[in-house]
Amino acid sequence: MAKIIIINTTPRKGGNCEVLAKRILVGLADSDPTYIDFKEADIRYCQGCDWCKHQDSAQCIQKDDMGALVPELDSCDALVLLSPIYYGELTAQAKTFVDRSYPFFNPAKPNMSMASKGGKKFALVTTCGGSDEEYQAYDEKLAQTFAVCGFSEQKVLALGGGSVPGSLADDAAVQAKIADLVDWIKA
Ligand SMILES: Cc1cc2nc3c(=O)[nH]c(=O)nc-3n(C[C@H](O)[C@H](O)[C@H](O)COP(=O)(O)O)c2cc1C
Repeated sequence: MAKIIIINTTPRKGGNCEVLAKRILVGLADSDPTYIDFKEADIRYCQGCDWCKHQDSAQCIQKDDMGALVPELDSCDALVLLSPIYYGELTAQAKTFVDRSYPFFNPAKPNMSMASKGGKKFALVTTCGGSDEEYQAYDEKLAQTFAVCGFSEQKVLALGGGSVPGSLADDAAVQAKIADLVDWIKA
């Protein structure tokens, strides 16, 4: 069974990222994905201590939920990260998650990667109040960050029109894109 991790970083209860994450969760129910709601999790900032650069595998010295998640990210098959766009970028919460993937980056290793396997799937879903796909190029660039974690297969959904909390869940075009994303992860 594929090991899948879904991380929802909206601080908004009932927000678009939350309802879309739940849709993805239902679509992938056969794989019993791990669901992490960032606002409920204990995930602190990267300390930049470089402890991770002196380990034999991807590990973080911090004993919080992300410290525990790093080995899971290493061994998983797929990761879905959902974030609203705040002032043209991911939320600070999502950026904290990105920064905490630093144990996977090591310039001394082949491909600068501490990942123990490649070919994993990474999906980034962003929602914004602006137009559809407005942040597609930004998202694609951001997604490349995760290649070093072994997530070489990538898919990005930049969804607009999401000013009202949860409203994207009722949008037929969005539902179709989420269904495609689920199929891509399952394939
Ligand atoms: C602090 C803040 C900054 C935002 N900045 C942008 C922005 O730069 N561009 C945009 O299109 N929407 C922006 N929005 C709107 C959100 O991206 C949009 O409502 C999104 O769907 C919220 O996701 P959520 O419902 O999962 O919380 C911003 C919203 C907030 C609260």
